[in-house]
Amino acid sequence: MANVAVIGAQWGDEGKGKVVDWLASRADVVVRYQGGHNAGHTLVVGNETYKLSLLPSGLVRGKLGVIGNGVVIDPEALLAEIARVQAQGLSVTPDTLRIADNAVLILPMHGALDRAREAARGERKIGTTGRGIGPAYEDKVARRAIRVCDLAEPETLDAKLDELLRHHNTLLASLGAATFDKASVLARLLELAPSILQYAEPVWERLDALRKAGKRILFEGAQAVMLDVDHGTYPYVTSSNTVAATAASGAGIGPHVVGFVLGIAKAYSTRVGSGPFPSELHDDIGALLGERGHEFGTVTGRPRRCGWFDAAMVRQAVKVSGIQGLVLTKLDVLDGLKELKICTGYRIRGEVFSHLPAAAGAQAAAEPIYEVMEGWAGSSRGARSWADLPAQAVKYVRRIEELVEAPVTLVSTSPERDDTIMVRDPFQD
Ligand code: IMP
Repeated sequence: MANVAVIGAQWGDEGKGKVVDWLASRADVVVRYQGGHNAGHTLVVGNETYKLSLLPSGLVRGKLGVIGNGVVIDPEALLAEIARVQAQGLSVTPDTLRIADNAVLILPMHGALDRAREAARGERKIGTTGRGIGPAYEDKVARRAIRVCDLAEPETLDAKLDELLRHHNTLLASLGAATFDKASVLARLLELAPSILQYAEPVWERLDALRKAGKRILFEGAQAVMLDVDHGTYPYVTSSNTVAATAASGAGIGPHVVGFVLGIAKAYSTRVGSGPFPSELHDDIGALLGERGHEFGTVTGRPRRCGWFDAAMVRQAVKVSGIQGLVLTKLDVLDGLKELKICTGYRIRGEVFSHLPAAAGAQAAAEPIYEVMEGWAGSSRGARSWADLPAQAVKYVRRIEELVEAPVTLVSTSPERDDTIMVRDPFQD
């Protein structure tokens, strides 16, 4: 019985929530392993809509949720999210949620620095979510972060905050932003400590035991491959590795435990924030995709940029992340379009590329090379089998499969959980 890792194969917002929810109902435990509350997963269950940022989606299905060491945790955001879903009737207790004691905390100065830097970048801003993700990961690597386990050693916090604030207050002051007072940060941390610590443990040990007991583990990725700090469109990326390999280091398990790697891609492309987007559409079709696909950020509410499906980019994501099966979502958004384009490569300063080169200048200059396909007149919405799909829609899916060099394992045809065409069961691979 395989475990499964679910990751986004584009720039995020591929509709992972629905797929993760569907898979979570068949898993025993769901693990978050990178990112933080910059992620936004929308889950529609019956009449309730859950918007999750930090909590593993499995909680909605009554499954054990684990937040791994690779996640950066804003304690205020986590407790607020727990309170919010509890008000919707979900049970979140130390029996259903476990948090890695070695996970790094996001504190108020991280968000402040994130926002102050973005303001200072002006035109060149990355378009971050402003949630302090980058500065928190920087502190982790710089070995000055405060971690969940530190909350259990209050006597060490004073000195840790000294070091943290020496760094952050200097930067904040140089950017003209307000600085932080140690006493109030410390007081708030001590106040929050018991609420967070009740969930804390070495989750690697629990995951090892669950694995040995033959339990099914679902690793829930956040953001997506093209936002990976190494493999994405750097510097317009997030500050963590989002590729599937991160599930191992971000949860404390061996790489062989990760299991089947399932990539999620929309049948077209979207991106929030700044950065290169070769197949972006600035015309009526782009606006139509945004409108039909309800393309607004879950976390920030920002309208998403829309464009044609970029097969060259998804192929790159398939390779760097070891994607073994692809889920194609929102196929129905393309219903009725006369003509569809698929980006198959790029022309950059007169040269043809089958992948997006690493340099930012080359990425910005990339012109899409398109293959044009006929659209379909009928509706694909709600289809649950190939036979329900217009013939041309099947051709479109099959062509994508060829171009990205990965089999399509699932096709999602509406936000409803059951409106899915399952080609192969990822847990059985
Ligand atoms: P950060 O993760 O807040 O530092 O933002 C860095 C980049 O990643 C920005 O372009 C964000 O819009 C993007 N980003 C971060 N999280 C998500 C997500 O969950 N979905 C889509 N884009 C995201």
